[in-house]
Amino acid sequence: MDIFIKNIVDILKVEVPLSGEEIEGFIEIPPDLEKGDYAFPCFAIAKQLRNAPAKISAELAQKLPTGDIITGIKAIGPYLNFYVSRKMFFKTILNDVFTESDSYGCSDLGKGKTAVIDYSSPNIAKHLAVHHLRSAVIGNAIHNIHKTLGYRCVGINHLGDWGTQFGQLIVAFKRWGPDTKDQGSIQETGLDINKLNKLYVQFHKEAKENPALEDEARDWFKKLENGNEEARETWQYFKEISLSEFERVYEKLGITFDSYAGESFYNDMLDDTVDRIKEAGLSEISEEALIVNLEEYDMPPCILRKKDDASLYATRDICAAEYRKREYDFDKLIYVVGSEQKLHFNQFFKVLELMGYEWVSSCEHVDFGLVKFKGGKMSTREGKVILLEDLLEESCKIAMEIIEGKNAELENKEEVANAIGIGAIIFSELSSKRVKDVLFDWDEILNFDGETGPYVQYTHARLCSVLRKCGETATNDIGHDLLKEDDELLLVKKLEFFQLTLIRAAKSCEPSIVSKYLLDLCSTFNRFYQHHRILIDDAELKKARVLLVDSVRQVIKNGLGILGLKAPERM
Ligand code: ARG
Repeated sequence: MDIFIKNIVDILKVEVPLSGEEIEGFIEIPPDLEKGDYAFPCFAIAKQLRNAPAKISAELAQKLPTGDIITGIKAIGPYLNFYVSRKMFFKTILNDVFTESDSYGCSDLGKGKTAVIDYSSPNIAKHLAVHHLRSAVIGNAIHNIHKTLGYRCVGINHLGDWGTQFGQLIVAFKRWGPDTKDQGSIQETGLDINKLNKLYVQFHKEAKENPALEDEARDWFKKLENGNEEARETWQYFKEISLSEFERVYEKLGITFDSYAGESFYNDMLDDTVDRIKEAGLSEISEEALIVNLEEYDMPPCILRKKDDASLYATRDICAAEYRKREYDFDKLIYVVGSEQKLHFNQFFKVLELMGYEWVSSCEHVDFGLVKFKGGKMSTREGKVILLEDLLEESCKIAMEIIEGKNAELENKEEVANAIGIGAIIFSELSSKRVKDVLFDWDEILNFDGETGPYVQYTHARLCSVLRKCGETATNDIGHDLLKEDDELLLVKKLEFFQLTLIRAAKSCEPSIVSKYLLDLCSTFNRFYQHHRILIDDAELKKARVLLVDSVRQVIKNGLGILGLKAPERM
């Protein structure tokens, strides 16, 4: 926390019935300068103090002390407004950005704490779906935000690599797949995800005519569970094919994981988990299946084992949560999974709670809305599946066309087009609150003047170009009192707000707080740049403005990086 906010918190803490952290959470930056540099809304304490917010703020304005850092305190309606020493403000913030550069925004708030984040988590033998992209992008941003705040982060891809469907796939592979005898080994069959997907579809079609196939599939899944070599080898192969496709897409997106421990990873631990649930007297047999009855909590039962003893998605999630607690001793376990799985999470969180695990309160289902496609290129209207790789490719292609039109001379065009194309997609997934559905519209997401990734990237590149034209490198040895304009102050205030933005985004697992912040920072800069010049004769003022512009550039770059976007210096 910077010294200004810290000072305000310290002053307020004495008189207000809230903790320092709570006070910090309420602090706002007023939209216009007359209203001070920071504000505290007194509705936050009106209930506890049984008084009207405006009265409270008037009283506090009288009572609270000012000093060198906070030079004035004024009540404006229900708000308590704080005024800071401008010179000190410029000096502190610009100095922080300058010296911390790439790590500006970092803190040790999460020091000694661990955040485990489960994201993307697709099912093998199927194409990555659009919701796995959204989960990957949101999860990666949440991972980066926590890392910046000093948490130890563990990113897990909880692959869907177990379940009865793999029995079905093995049957389909053996019946209709490439002939492994002719090919020598499974590895040489040239199977890819497309073909696997087709086999899967074919199985369901044929099983309608011939239900015996389902029994066959069950038998193969049993064999797989019992460690039968042929079953294992075939399944392993499906997994390799899938992973190589997934990793290709993740690489394009610049997304990484610390662990790929998927559902199958827990196979040997499931019995113990189920035993613990049984021993706690939580389970019962219903229609031959083993379940935890959750009627009392208005939820359907959580099924642990089917009648043929096979485990389920929920069983494996309960087991995985126990394992993650043992292995990582997390302070937060975050599941970035679509809203449609809300019930699943409520159910197995409830089972964990009934098992007596207090740490379930630190598990959170970070849900998100759907991605919908607007008509035009790649619309879903014709019932076509949208393949992620095609989506990314198309975006980079359009970005390239834009560059050709804007700046055909640009060096490393391809690299920049990829940064913009991928950035546009990532930003579009992050620019509205995650629970909202996203409407995917090419014209919208690649618009350099819209609320988009390319707009932020373009602003960054413009700043780099302004600095190049100045021919001066930034130095922090400037006359801070030369920065007298309101537009300058507004800009530095935004820079200062970066860290608080990250803290708030981490608290609510809401990366859109960061994307909104960046859009705001860019438009604040653009407003400044409309009215003020950097290339001026006054050498001292020029030096001060170069530092200011360089600081904005740095913060935009850091913010883009946290969201998972590149920041090209030329576009
Ligand atoms: N594989 C699941 C799906 O595609 C998502 C898994 C999410 N993570 C979890 N621990 N349940 O729907």
